[in-house]
Amino acid sequence: MQHLRRFMIEEQPGIAAALEAALAKLPPNSAGPAGHVLRAGGKRLRPLLTLLWGRVHGCAHDDLHTLGAAVEMLHAATLVHDDILDRAELRRGKPAAHTVFGLTEAVLAGDAMLAGALLMVSRLGDARLTACISEAVMHTAEGEAAELASLRRLDGSQDDYIAMITGKTAWMLRAACELGALRAGADPAGVEAAARFGLELGIAFQLVDDCLDFSPPEETGKPRGGDLREGKATPPLLLYLADLAPEREQAFAEGFTQGSLDEAALEAICAEIHADGYARKARALAEERLAAAAGALRGLPDGPELAALGEMCDYIRERSA
Ligand code: FPP
Ligand code: MG
Repeated sequence: MQHLRRFMIEEQPGIAAALEAALAKLPPNSAGPAGHVLRAGGKRLRPLLTLLWGRVHGCAHDDLHTLGAAVEMLHAATLVHDDILDRAELRRGKPAAHTVFGLTEAVLAGDAMLAGALLMVSRLGDARLTACISEAVMHTAEGEAAELASLRRLDGSQDDYIAMITGKTAWMLRAACELGALRAGADPAGVEAAARFGLELGIAFQLVDDCLDFSPPEETGKPRGGDLREGKATPPLLLYLADLAPEREQAFAEGFTQGSLDEAALEAICAEIHADGYARKARALAEERLAAAAGALRGLPDGPELAALGEMCDYIRERSA
């Protein structure tokens, strides 16, 4: 992954500077929570995707960084709100923004970050860019609402699940890619390829994330079973349940839907799902999406940017945390 790693290192200062410029434009009382979440780290995959998709089409504008920073700030806003909805205490190993700054302050800072990001994009004066990012925000909210409605339920289909993660995770990655191609003035087929790549990559990203949730803590560095605890029925769990004897399945369903499974039961199920290969089996779904993402790269101009985009698929597949 030499090309991707090189871009990750070389582009870091430019992305950080664009993010600081974006933070400086927020109202002072939002800057605390916004800075807290944005400076807590993160891989900055979204701004990097914007840069790579712009440059693969020959774009050299500095405002690719502005676009990338806008997507990252929007992503951070969704995380601030998500931690409130999930009642999460930690984000990226640090206290979640609402636990430090208060619930109201964090909700409103998320709103200011959302509006600030849209303003940054609209100031570039191209309505297609504003429409692209606004559509992504709308689908992200739609996907998050679908997830909340599906909590502690086992009657959703795999298609429902894919539609939900397409909204909550993949649309923002799609916008990150599409914005770069649009800013570069790519033709409609080029813009469509960027959108398809981002969407498929985003679906794969969430599928891998959901599989990693069953990995032992010594492999990921974080406790496992968070999704199960929160009542999220992800593919490894659904595959496991499909093979379970009816009486065990019924006992699980009762505990899961009522939220009454204790820590020992949750840990035992996680261990079983991992040991019996259901997380690995669910990864096949991610592989199909990664192959589709790689397919969207066909016909693009050769060079380090194209190589790095190809390596992004490997990065998503191989990440362990
Ligand atoms: C993380 O999922 C959450 C998201 C990717 C999307 C959250 C979206 C919203 C809260 C709605 C839209 C909000 C705005 C400001 C437009 P996760 O809970 O599965 O992942 P995690 O383990 O990282 O928390
Ligand atoms: Mg969450």
